[in-house]
Amino acid sequence: MISTKMQAALNEQVNKEFYSAYMYLAMSAYSNTIGLPGFAHWMRMQYEEETLHVTKMYDYILNQGGEVELLAVEKPPKKYGSPLEIFKKTLEHEQYVTSLIHKLMDLAVEERDYATQTFLQWYVTEQVEEESNVNDIVAPLRMVGDDKSGLMLIDRQLAGRVAPTPLPVK
Ligand code: FEO
Repeated sequence: MISTKMQAALNEQVNKEFYSAYMYLAMSAYSNTIGLPGFAHWMRMQYEEETLHVTKMYDYILNQGGEVELLAVEKPPKKYGSPLEIFKKTLEHEQYVTSLIHKLMDLAVEERDYATQTFLQWYVTEQVEEESNVNDIVAPLRMVGDDKSGLMLIDRQLAGRVAPTPLPVK
């Protein structure tokens, strides 16, 4: 069982995870438009990953006897600037999501909601990985700057990102 306050906060986070999925899909489309198919693929995989973050939380609310309320998803930007800017914006976004997860954890601690604390631990760990993965892409992008062959090499590497493992359907 979860409190009404926790239920509302988790529903808000479901919405933020949906926005993340939506934004990465927009980034994927943008990357295609500017001729970077590897970037587009990486963003498409990130979109898939975010949909898993959505459904994992959705399932948790239901499993706890709560009510899911799907809120309106904000429209993401259409353009994201240079290849480096795309990933700098990705890093900023993931840092923002980390702060949201930490606020949720603060609430779970305040409410002495042990089940939600355990559940959210998965997201805390996931955010460390997400930020680290993006940092590992921002660093070489900074190094290559405007060098076209360097960018093409990174694009080819990003094309190799594998699809996330789907969650079991409840
Ligand atoms: Fe769902 Fe990228 O955090």
